[in-house]
Amino acid sequence: MKKMISGIKPSGSPTLGNYIGAIKNFVHYQNEYELYVFIADLHAITIRQDPLELKRNTLDIATLYIACGLNPNKCTIFVQTDVLEHANLGFILNCFTYMGELTRMTQFKEKSQNTNNDSIGVGLFTYPPLMAADILLYDVDYVPVGEDQVQHLEITRDIAIRINNLYNQKVFVIPDKIVNKVGARIKSLQDPSKKMSKSEDPSDKGCIFLLEDPNKAYKKIMSAVTDNEMLVKYDPDNKPGISNLIQIYCSLKDVSIETCEEEFKDSNYGTFKKAVAEIVKTTLENIQSRFKEIRYTDKLAEILNEGKLKAQKIASKKLLEIEKVIGLK
Ligand code: TRP
Repeated sequence: MKKMISGIKPSGSPTLGNYIGAIKNFVHYQNEYELYVFIADLHAITIRQDPLELKRNTLDIATLYIACGLNPNKCTIFVQTDVLEHANLGFILNCFTYMGELTRMTQFKEKSQNTNNDSIGVGLFTYPPLMAADILLYDVDYVPVGEDQVQHLEITRDIAIRINNLYNQKVFVIPDKIVNKVGARIKSLQDPSKKMSKSEDPSDKGCIFLLEDPNKAYKKIMSAVTDNEMLVKYDPDNKPGISNLIQIYCSLKDVSIETCEEEFKDSNYGTFKKAVAEIVKTTLENIQSRFKEIRYTDKLAEILNEGKLKAQKIASKKLLEIEKVIGLK
């Protein structure tokens, strides 16, 4: 089986966008790949976090992975800081990454834009080599990414190729990206030019959280922005609001865009929105009922401990290998 890894940053409560764009796909991938999923808590602290919230979000996401259908017997679920090798290889890769490369990262530019240079944490700058470490420790073939992470995967490949060439050895496997088709990037319900994310939308109305009251989520869908045409048609450039709702519907119902357009070809937006709101509500109810069964039990700690041990075994071997190549061991 080919290997795959992905991580979610616990900086904020997980959203429907995280589910459709990432978690839901992992459920399929666990049957086709040797899958590693982790909670990227070190990446979260590149932006200041409230300690209690960070801890809560980390365990919430771990639980949600399972509540959404990831099976700990099929894949490895762990927390990044539980496996010290990530930070360790992260530092080593810092030494093989150039200032120029990191300065060109769009995510860094975006996130540091409104902050004075004197108060931007260095961790935000060196975010990409840490992410490269996450990936390269496990010799994975594939990394599923949203559009916003493509550049990070490219720099990961560059760093890996650079080290392999420098030492003239195949130290690292060069990973390929998998960009999801449907729902690669679910948009805000209030401003569909932006990603659905808490930080993009201070009012909360554009963003559905996986752990929020399903009735509240229903209302958010009903008040999502659309357009003046009365046509349920997928056209992201001209009809971003409706296209976003179509993506949500198709992903949660597991139907194609054509099927959805056909189903609602004679419907007004009210009817269509009700159908989307229903499936969103049902999805949240199902996830939340499984979430409650796991979150505050010993079972969660057990799963994360097992994941940690499995991940450590692989990561420590890889770290030792690269340390020998460089001359640290
Ligand atoms: N940077 C990713 C994001 O913000 C999270 C992440 C950290 C990640 N390390 C990773 C994703 C390794 C894939 C592989 O979404």
